[in-house]
This record gives sequence, C-alpha cells and structure tokens, in this order.
Amino acid sequence: MCGIVGYVGEKQALSVVVEGLRRLEYRGYDSAGVAVVADGRLDTRKKAGKLANLESLLGTDPLPQSTIGIGHTRWATHGGPTDANAHPHVSEDGKVAVIHNGIIENFAELRAELTAAGVTLSSETDTEVVAHLLAAVLPETDHDLAEAMRRVCRRLSGAFTLVAVHSDIPDVVVGARRNSPLVVGRGQGENFLASDVAAFIAHTRFATELGQDQVVELRRDTVVVTTFDGDPADVTEYEVTWDASAAEKGGYDTFMAKEIAEQPKAVSDTLLGRIGTDGRLKLDEMRLTDAELREVDKVVVIACGTAYHSGMVAKYAIEHWTRIPTEVELASEFRYRDPVVGPRTLVIAISQSGETMDTIMALRFAREQGAKVLAICNTQGSTIPRESDAVVYTYAGPEVAVASTKAFLTQIVACYLVALYVAQVRGNKYGDEIAAVVRELQDMPRKVDLVLDTTEEMKRIADELKDAPSVLFIGRHVGFPVALEGALKLKELAYMHAEGFAAGELKHGPIALLEDGVPVIVVVPSPAGRSVLHEKIISNIQEVRARGARTIVIAEEGDEAVVPYADTIVRIPACPTLLQPLVATVPLQVFAAAMATAKGLDVDQPRNLAKSVTVE
Ligand code: F6R
Repeated sequence: MCGIVGYVGEKQALSVVVEGLRRLEYRGYDSAGVAVVADGRLDTRKKAGKLANLESLLGTDPLPQSTIGIGHTRWATHGGPTDANAHPHVSEDGKVAVIHNGIIENFAELRAELTAAGVTLSSETDTEVVAHLLAAVLPETDHDLAEAMRRVCRRLSGAFTLVAVHSDIPDVVVGARRNSPLVVGRGQGENFLASDVAAFIAHTRFATELGQDQVVELRRDTVVVTTFDGDPADVTEYEVTWDASAAEKGGYDTFMAKEIAEQPKAVSDTLLGRIGTDGRLKLDEMRLTDAELREVDKVVVIACGTAYHSGMVAKYAIEHWTRIPTEVELASEFRYRDPVVGPRTLVIAISQSGETMDTIMALRFAREQGAKVLAICNTQGSTIPRESDAVVYTYAGPEVAVASTKAFLTQIVACYLVALYVAQVRGNKYGDEIAAVVRELQDMPRKVDLVLDTTEEMKRIADELKDAPSVLFIGRHVGFPVALEGALKLKELAYMHAEGFAAGELKHGPIALLEDGVPVIVVVPSPAGRSVLHEKIISNIQEVRARGARTIVIAEEGDEAVVPYADTIVRIPACPTLLQPLVATVPLQVFAAAMATAKGLDVDQPRNLAKSVTVE
C-alpha cells in the first residue's frame, strides 16, 4: 500500500526512481510523484492516476538532472487521489520533500498546531504535516536531517514509512519506519530505499531490513541506522535470492498470467527440502520445540482476503491430521472481539506480503495473550515473520499482480506441511494416511502443471459468460474455500457480482438468487473414498439446475457420475480431497483474469486495490 523509492548515487536519480516505482506500482496506483535535488534546489512533479500520467508530465515538463531523488506511488487514505494530494509533499519554504506510506493517526492535532503557528497546508493528507514539522525542527538540529526526522517521528502516532530530502543537504536521503515496510538496498557508490526489494533488485541484491522505530541516513557510500532516540540500531543484512527477471512479465501479457503459470514451480519450491527421503517432514526453520507443539490445545489461523481462504483450507487439514481444534478468523475481526487465546494456543498468521496491518495487529494481540505465533509468509524479513515466534516461508517468488494466485497455492502447501509436521510430532491414529498424503503432496507440482491445460477452455467459457450479471460458486468441504476464492478473484478483477457458498447452504437462502441462465460454478469433491460428499454435491447441482442455472462443473478426471448434471465440465487431475484446492483453484484464477480481459479491464492493477494493505 503505497510504494516508496529513494536513491542517492552516481546514476540519473529520476530514471532509477521511476523504474523503481514501476516495479512498486502494484502497491497503489491512485497517483504518483517524484522529487529531485539539483544545484541547491528541490523540484517535484506529481500527478493523479497511474504512473504513466506522471511519465507524460515528466515528458512535457522535465526535471533537472540529479543524482539524488525520491518517488511515491499512492493508494489514497487521507484525501482523494488528486494532484494536490499526491506525494511528495513540500514544506512552505520549498526545501523539504516528504513521501509517506501508512496513516499518521494524530495528524489532525498536528495540523491544528501548524495552522495555529501560521502554516498554510495545501493538501488534505496526513503526510503534509511531516514536511512542515521537519522544516520547523531542522534549524534546531544543526541541519541534521536524520536528527530532525527522529525528533518528528517521536511526535507521530500510527503507522508510517517516511522518506525525505532537503535542498540544502544535497547528498542525504533520510528514511524512517514504524509499522510499515522499508528496506535499504546497498550498492557500490549508491544506495537505495524502498518499500520492497523489487524496486532496486535490478541494481543490487544486497539488502538491509530496517526494524521497528528506526531512522536511516543514506549517503552515496554510507548507511547509518539509529533508533528514534538516536542510539545505534541492530539491523539484519541479507542477499535477495531472486533476480530482476523474476519481477518482470517475461513474455506474458500480464503478471497474473505469468504468476498462474509459475504455480507448479512455486508449489515445488515450497515443498523443496521439507520432506526427507524417508517421507518424514523436516521444518528446520520451525523454531517451535516438539514439547511446545505437543502442548498445543487449539490452533487459530488469522489472515485476510485470499490468505484467509488458504487458512480455511488449512482448518480442514489441521483438524483431520492432528485432531487439534482449529479456528480460522479474519485478522481484522480477531483482534477486536476479545478472543479466547492463551499459552497453549498456536496462532498461525498467513500473509504473502508479511506487511498486512490487520494481520500484524492480530498477531501482536495474540502474543500479548501468551500464544505462540507461527508465520506463513512469502516475503523474507517482512514484519510478520520478524514479529512471530516461528516462520515457515512460502517460496512463490515475487507476486506482482495485485490479485494473489501463486501465493495462495503455496500458502496452502505450507499449511499442509505444518499440519503434517505437527501430526508427526504428536503421533496420531492417521500415521499411515499421513505417509500416503506426503507422497501425494510430492506429486502435486505435476498435477498443478497438468491443470494449466484447462487455460484455453476457461478463457472460452469466460468469453461466453462475460455479459452475465452475476456468477455464483459453490463447493463443499475444502471446495467451499475454493468457491470463495473463485468469487473473490472474479469480484476484484472483473468488478462483477460473484459469491461463493457452501453448497449445502444454498437452500437456506441464496438459492433465491437463481433464475434462468445464471452461471453456477461447482467445485466437485473427489469421488474416491468420499462418496457422501460427492453424492451431496450432485444433489446440490440438481437443485440449482432445477431453478434454471447454467452449471459449469469442475470435476476430477474419471468422475463420470457428474456428467449428466453439467452444462459444461472442466476436468482437473484426481487427487485426495484435502489436496484438491491446489488444482481446483487454478481454472478459477484463469477464468477471473479472462473475464477481466474480455471486459477490457486491467488484470494486474484492478481499481481501488493495492497489493500490500498496510493500514487497518
Ligand atoms: C486478493 C488478495 C488479497 C490478499 C490480502 C492479504 O487477491 O491478494 O485479498 O490476499 O490482502 O494479503 P497478504 O497475504 O499480503 O497478507
């Protein structure tokens, strides 16, 4: 949510910053802006709309050449997406420029204080107060921009990543971080600041994580990190394991198409090294002891959006394999309802970005209650794994399309691994079944690859259905979260009414939505060994058909029983019911992207959304 880039070095800052913003645009695209310092002057350009609008402005109204600059791509919180509200925000004397990600919660009080002191604010944002405060404080610090930033940060509450430059200090970029991400990229004779390593990966793979409440002063050859109080800070340095090509489209029309196609590898990478040749699970980074895992008497999974749907799948797997009662809860609800959590609760926080504020607040709350928190996360060094007791990383690689695809599949895989590992540690009556499932799990990358063969078929179906006013999705058991995920994808990408239901629940109300021709996509459970579920869904299909629905049925190869009830049938490889979401979801992702394309919409950057939701 909001992308931030800062650069100081020897190159043309503007091109480095704009290229970085392009790679971060998935974080927000309501407006964009840049600032550079050249010849003792600060210059900014900013524009509402996507980055392309800013680039056109820079074409007609260029900025001077400079080797220091900052840039921002915005997802609006305070103040609409206008030119005036776009970042950077500049102090009245025109010398300080500030960009910000997050929400400054006490901004109204600070605004009132500045107004009373005679300052004229020119935007509706919370960010602008920081530019004026920095300008006011700087003379008291002997023109030390980092010290001015520390003093200002001590007055702010809420979540913020801030980056600032000053025209009288032309060799320094300063950043600050509380609750929102900020990473340093360390180059040769140049350094970078960004919300995400993707912004500078084309220049350097050496990164430094900033911790909570830290300020960084960046010069061409030095990086100095302190706490908000000015003490030297502990930082973690690391090397990014993927390169710039991983964050590029690589010949696909959209990032989403590329990320869907990458799913077999993402699943395989997430399994890699975690299952021994003896079939036993190895989760070396688990950090929770066997004794701690044996103590657990309840699991609570917290997550948002698509990650929440992976948590719903996890509930079925964890309860079945470990027999530990498991709840799944939206992180934004969990935190505020006085949940029963204690030292014997294992909280699993699932997040692709590792920066989702709702999930961060929920995990902090859980830890305060004494629970152990295990993060399942795709972003190394992000806040959620840093603040958790243990982490199991997913290895989906960078996910750039705003709608999550490969992260979802890998989150499910990581949940299976955790569930199977806990079952292994605790030992239980499903021992033989677990050995069989582990073998099946190892075969899932191949099956996910096979299911990609449905892509053209799903595009054809989308083309036929593009004018449908609404699409319903139904499923049972783990097919229910798959139905919810299919509907979410369609809503966010094709901006149409779509809803997912537990198939058995239809008759309790939603069936009233059905009329002639309404498309209903049915996720059919595996017929093997689960005949009750299978029979039940066939009844549910008959119920919807009897009310005129057009049924598009996602069913396993070899499931002939379902054929008479399907207007259209899409085949997925056979696999155990609990693993089926890994293949059943893929055609629904393709369908949603194809619907958006058929309607002429932007698949990678749907309206109103941002990839990393760093506000509550
Ligand atoms: C939907 C989507 C979102 C995210 C949600 C959580 O396609 O991407 O619903 O899943 O915002 O994000 P993370 O996983 O980063 O915590």
